[in-house]
Order: sequence, then structure tokens, then C-alpha cells
Amino acid sequence: MRIRAEGIVKDFGTGASSGAGAALAGVELDVRSGELMALLGPSGSGKTTLLRVIAGLELPDAGQVYFGDEDATAIPVARRGVGFVFQHYALFRHLSVRDNIAFGLKVKSRERLRRAEIDGRVGELLRLVQLDGLEKRYPNQLSGGQRQRVALARALAIQPRVLLLDEPFGALDARVRKDLRRSLRDIHDATGQTTIFVTHDQDEALELADRVAILNAGRVEQIGTPDEVHDDPRSAFVMGFVGESAKLAVEIRDRAVHYRGARLSVPPQGLPDGPALLFLRPQDVALTSGPDGLPGSITIVRRAAGGRRAEIKLDAAPADAAPLDATSPGATSRDLVETELGTHEVASRGDLVRVAITGGRVFPDRV
Ligand SMILES: Nc1ncnc2c1ncn2[C@@H]1O[C@H](COP(=O)(O)OP(=O)(O)O)[C@@H](O)[C@H]1O
Ligand SMILES: [Mg+2]
Repeated sequence: MRIRAEGIVKDFGTGASSGAGAALAGVELDVRSGELMALLGPSGSGKTTLLRVIAGLELPDAGQVYFGDEDATAIPVARRGVGFVFQHYALFRHLSVRDNIAFGLKVKSRERLRRAEIDGRVGELLRLVQLDGLEKRYPNQLSGGQRQRVALARALAIQPRVLLLDEPFGALDARVRKDLRRSLRDIHDATGQTTIFVTHDQDEALELADRVAILNAGRVEQIGTPDEVHDDPRSAFVMGFVGESAKLAVEIRDRAVHYRGARLSVPPQGLPDGPALLFLRPQDVALTSGPDGLPGSITIVRRAAGGRRAEIKLDAAPADAAPLDATSPGATSRDLVETELGTHEVASRGDLVRVAITGGRVFPDRV
């Protein structure tokens, strides 16, 4: 089922005192039928509120929620046909795995399903979440990961129009999280169930989702495939939030990007003259033996994502650079960049090096 949110505003009235705006400040979201959409954003960006509005647990101050062509905004949660999985296990402690899952089935059907039918369906769901054989266990006899699998099976039991998950793996350790992430993707591929998945973990969103919606301060900043949001961020916020990057305060002048007086080969992307921010992924930075490189020194060499990274502190000011004026945004930039080291590249802390900037993106000087 296609799910749309149009112009959703939700203000809890606490924004003014906390200095923040509305929890949701005009959200547009269009989830295609059968899609697995991740809502990704920092804590407090409005992810849970948006999910609750879609579920019908929260009424928006303005805007509409559509399930297919139907305006579902005023339909109460019990009649919306949504399956929910939260971070904290919401299993019934006094019910077996079987009965936890069957609970949804029984509530749903007015005329009660026959026992054999229920057992058949529970068995199917347990196979789907890879827990076959555990139907007689009680929640306290399961690991955290297994409990979330049961919660998932229970949410799917009612054949919801949309499956909503709010940081479902947030309380689990890294290894179990990864397994569950994989399972959720497999289950999604097997069922084609329209799914909206909330997370603040970009790896989870980028690995799992068909598309990712990036939330910032109650607004969707960008929606796209994992590749699109990572490789073609439309704002400094998205660039900084998705993937790893370092940030340098630069100056646009004569249609070129300058860093502390040195002209860089990064395109200024049509930004007007003045201060700007340059974001650099590790692959945009290389150590060089050439004389044109920016001077700096290695502060840390560390292992990351299967490779080795060197962090470099760029020198405060090359001899030929104009002094920075006090209003320059240099104060917000720590002049640190990172590069991926080649297997045989030797680098250690304290080495004086030169850095070539081979890529990167500039954005206006405000995030
Ligand atoms: N029931 C509530 N009452 C008051 N403020 C709330 C309530 N729920 C959420 N908020 C506020 O709305 C904003 C968004 O919260 P939330 O949707 O929980 O963000 P996220 O899930 O992205 O961390 C936050 O500033 C939060 O404090
Ligand atoms: Mg939340």
C-alpha cells in the first residue's frame, strides 16, 4: 500500500521554551507500495512523531496522511491496519511465543479463526522470522534478538497495510543488530510488505532501505536511494550526517574555492563570493609528495571500516596566506581532514606531510 504524508505539522507546544520549533514542521513523504523506506535523522528530529502520526497514535495539527487514495488522517489506530515494532519489547510476558503471535490474529478476525488455521499461520510466521520450533517458549526464555523477531512476527500476523518499526534493533548488540537487519531485508523481499523503518544509525538505513528520508528539525531534507543521499547530498546537513566527512571553512573568490589563501581545484558549485564550507570524504584527501600540497601533520592513524585512516591537522596558515580575519568561520573548523591509507603507505603520528584535495563539495556557510 502506498503511504503519503502531506504538509504534516505537529507542535507539542514545548518548542518555544526549548528553543526548538515544531516537532514536525511541514513533512512531505511518499512511500511507494512495497517499498522499504528508512527515516533517518538525529535524535529529536521528529522521526518517532512522524511514525506515530502515520500510525494514528498522534493527530497532526495540519496535513493529511493517505493510505492509497484514502485519507486516513482521522482513522483511529485500531482501524488503520498498521503493524508496529518498537525498540523495547512489547511482548506479553505471560503468553507463549505462539500466543503472542496468535494474539494479533485473534483480535483481527471477528469470527475466530480455527485453531488449526492459527497454528498453521503462526508456523509460517515463525519460519519467516527464523524461529521455528520456539513456539512454546516464553519471552523470558528468549534472547533480545529473538524477542524482536517475535515482535516482528506478531506485527506481520495481522497482514498490516504498512509495517512501522521505530528503532527496533536499538537495544541490541552490534552483532545481533546486523543479523536482524539482514533478516528484515529478507522478510521484506519475501513479503513485499510496505515498511517504514526509523533509525538514527546511518549504516542501518543505507544498508537496509530502498530509499532513505533524511529528517532534520521536523522537516524532510532529502529523500533518495542510499547512493543518492550519500553521493549527491543536497544540503550541508545531509552531507554532514550521511557518510563520513571532514569540514573546512573556505572562501569563495574569483569563482574558485580557497582554503587559507590556497586555491583548490574543487568546483564552487555556483556559490557566491564569501565564506563557505568544504566537506571532504576520506577519498577526497590524499597524501602527496608534490610541492602544491597543503602542509600539515598526522595526528592519528587508526583502523576503520577494514582499512587504515590517517587524520591530518592542516597547518594554521601557509606563509603566503593572508591572515584570517576574526569574522571568518575558521573558528568552527578544526582544520582536520582524514584520508584512507593504501596498504603499503607508511604514516605515523607526528609525521609532517602534504595533502592533496582531490574532491569534495562546498555548501553555504550555515548548516
Ligand atoms: N509527547 C510529547 N510531548 C512534548 N514534546 C514531544 C513529545 N513527543 C516528542 N516531543 C518533542 O518533539 C521533538 C521530536 O521528537 P521525536 O519525534 O521523538 O524525535 P526522534 O524520534 O527523531 O528522536 C523533540 O523535540 C521532542 O522533545
Ligand atoms: Mg524516536
